[in-house]
Amino acid sequence: MEIKKVCVIGAGTMGNGITQVVAQAGYDTAMVDIKQEFLDRGMNAIKGSLARVVKKGTITQADADKVVARIKTYTDMKAGAGDADYVIEAVFEKAEVKQPVLKQLDEVCLERTIIASNTSSIPISLLSSATKRPQKVVGLHFFNPVPVMKLIEVVKSLTVSEETIATSVALGKSLGKEPVVVKDSPGFIANRIANLAANEALKVLEEGLASAEDIDKVCRLAFNWPMGLLQMTDLVGADVVMDLGESIYKETGWERYKPAPLLKRMVESGYLGNKAGKGIYTMFGPKQ
Ligand code: 3HC
Repeated sequence: MEIKKVCVIGAGTMGNGITQVVAQAGYDTAMVDIKQEFLDRGMNAIKGSLARVVKKGTITQADADKVVARIKTYTDMKAGAGDADYVIEAVFEKAEVKQPVLKQLDEVCLERTIIASNTSSIPISLLSSATKRPQKVVGLHFFNPVPVMKLIEVVKSLTVSEETIATSVALGKSLGKEPVVVKDSPGFIANRIANLAANEALKVLEEGLASAEDIDKVCRLAFNWPMGLLQMTDLVGADVVMDLGESIYKETGWERYKPAPLLKRMVESGYLGNKAGKGIYTMFGPKQ
């Protein structure tokens, strides 16, 4: 199936990152959100991200300007998604938020359009049940920061067609990513592993075994990871890490995924990480 226009729903961290890579790959690109201010914030994030690569000399300013010009923004779902060949939903990571969006997309999109969800743990079968096209609903799980991270988990539900999977893998490759097809199972693969490790790092911090900085130093120096798990929690968002653990625990009953009490306290206190301007390092990092 030929894809010319891609529409991304949601202008938040993941949504604007996905929009950027889609536009950089040359697709006609739409980004939809419910408020113009969210779209403006998303576009500013894209401009900031492109400015980094222009500064490094990876692309020219003229190319960056073309990428920005390729992106149209909409507050009306039908206006943005109604003529798209492929739609990627990247709204808030809650089934009760995503399902109505999928339902509405099903109503406004062309019959042939594939609807992908950038979910990190919600079963695709649950999301696709909100539509009348489960054979055309797929999971497309990107990683943060989207312009940098190479992996996409392409999540295969019981009802999705082979054609949808093949088109999604081809789209992922055209974005310069490395798609891996995974079964529709709680946490898929990446988060099933990463959530456990991040949660354990929070427990280690809570038990006072070492400082936040030293826990992260262990991660970096022992395994050559680019950042420690506490720093990664600040990057991804404490709320996202907590919701992920809760969702895997709810689905499987596996106690080991129960969010660390400290993680819950951080979320309740609004210390969500980079996006909130305060997180684990503000609370437990070296004092200025
Ligand atoms: N846009 C474009 N380029 C960016 C960027 C952005 N937003 N952020 C970083 N980059 C580029 C830089 O320009 C640089 O490019 P270069 O190699 O060509 O010079 C490269 O990425 C490295 O960036 P920096 O030198 O500024 O900083 P670091 O070397 O510290 O790397 C990092 C930053 C890429 C974030 C690195 O620390 C990293 O890979 N961390 C791990 C991130 C991770 O684990 N992500 C997964 C989170 S889990 C998830 O997303 C799943 C979800 O479901 C929860």
